[in-house]
Amino acid sequence: MPLLDVRDIDTFYGASHVLHSLSLRVEQSEIECILGRNGVGKTTLLRSIIGLTPPRLGRVVYKGEDITRMRVNKRARLGIGYVPQGREIFPDITVMDNLRLGLVARSDGMTRVPDEIFDFFPMLKPLVDRQGGLLSGGEQQQLAIARALCGNPELLLLDEPTEGIQPSIVQEIERILKRIHQEKKLTIILVEQKIDFAKNVSQEFTIMVKGRVAREADIHSLTDEVIREYLTI
Ligand SMILES: Nc1ncnc2c1ncn2[C@@H]1O[C@H](COP(=O)(O)OP(=O)(O)O)[C@@H](O)[C@H]1O
Ligand SMILES: [Mg+2]
Repeated sequence: MPLLDVRDIDTFYGASHVLHSLSLRVEQSEIECILGRNGVGKTTLLRSIIGLTPPRLGRVVYKGEDITRMRVNKRARLGIGYVPQGREIFPDITVMDNLRLGLVARSDGMTRVPDEIFDFFPMLKPLVDRQGGLLSGGEQQQLAIARALCGNPELLLLDEPTEGIQPSIVQEIERILKRIHQEKKLTIILVEQKIDFAKNVSQEFTIMVKGRVAREADIHSLTDEVIREYLTI
């Protein structure tokens, strides 16, 4: 049984039909990347999975349970973590308070930020008392991932975590994600525009075109030809 089974979903914003009978299966402990040009519906797919924009048709099944109509916070407590595009950390509260907000998604009642967070993200440690908004883009991105991890997810949804981030920090995020994946056996769905980054961290890929799956395969099948056909502008 896959950890996540998205079956034939159709998702809309009002009258605008964005996802068309889209299916996606993600196995436990796998990193699956979702690729596609701007506007094809990658973010909408993640929003359909976490419940911010539930599909009108089809089903989202997590660990065998139909969660299509479940509330967002209940999905979070079931173990689905979400790092939205553009990070969305809270700029006016401290780094530590941002992390504490991530704890509400836990199902075990833990009320303090686990030490492992600072083990994975040591750069956050000296910044705990700083206001979130004063962090650099790269630091905010790491904070956003760390905050999601505070919820102790089994499935992590990451929407373009390298967008607008300098190359050295992209490498740092790559290293951290690989380590988290290895040590926590976390399942990750990664929406990404940077092909090299996606190739380095993922095992499987799905390419979307106009709200549909155009290609899905093992990451080694992501050849230059496929990239040229579906991904370059
Ligand atoms: N809140 C919204 N209301 C209406 N249309 C939206 C909204 N968000 C996204 N869209 C439209 O849905 C389509 C898919 O968007 P999105 O999922 O953000 O694509 P991607 O993440 O692949 O760039 C686009 O045509 C976009 O304009
Ligand atoms: Mg997007």
